[in-house]
Amino acid sequence: MIPATTGRRRLVVLLALPVAATLGAALATLPSASGQEKSPAPQTAPYLPSISDMMIATIQPRHRRLWQDWKDKDWAFAAYELGNLRGAFRRLGEAHPKENDVSLPDMIASVTGQPVDELTTAVRSKDDTKFTKAYADLTDGCNSCHQAFNHGVVVIKVPSGAPSFDQDFTHAAP
Ligand code: HEC
Repeated sequence: MIPATTGRRRLVVLLALPVAATLGAALATLPSASGQEKSPAPQTAPYLPSISDMMIATIQPRHRRLWQDWKDKDWAFAAYELGNLRGAFRRLGEAHPKENDVSLPDMIASVTGQPVDELTTAVRSKDDTKFTKAYADLTDGCNSCHQAFNHGVVVIKVPSGAPSFDQDFTHAAP
């Protein structure tokens, strides 16, 4: 025979279970102790620089520097900068494969491909005439793309005047 006390205890336990479940559900919907709803951790959207961000950050300064390197007759630095400019255009095309339904990598190749190749040859052979011609062609390439994408307000020119940079380009030759 089961003692009466054990039976009563079992009854208490059985009654307590649904109460605890209900209370638990109610607590789950209550605001947390701090009085604020617990929201899921914020999702940070990956930052994709826009075409103009990349122009200002990765293309324009290298176009400018390349000219400065030539003026300083720092051919080693010109070769370095030209390689970086080529890479920056490649990454631009990878990040933005299409703009207004036009393939950006194709456009980049068609307007900058030849001048960049000619600049490479000019820098290798330290040829001033070839360099200035190819540099002007590259600059025309910048502008023809801007016009093609209806951004003709962005006009790039062969630099003139003293550089106003925050980098010292008068480093010792390697
Ligand atoms: C394949 C096309 C293409 C080529 C080549 C190109 N650009 Fe651009 N560039 C653009 C487009 C498109 C924009 C406008 C982007 C926007 O505002 O949405 C732009 C904008 C710019 C801007 C303005 C950015 C701003 O926010 O004010 C600068 C500066 C610029 N380009 C520099 C250059 C230079 C320098 C070259 C050449 C070395 C060059 N670009 C070559 C497509 C090109």
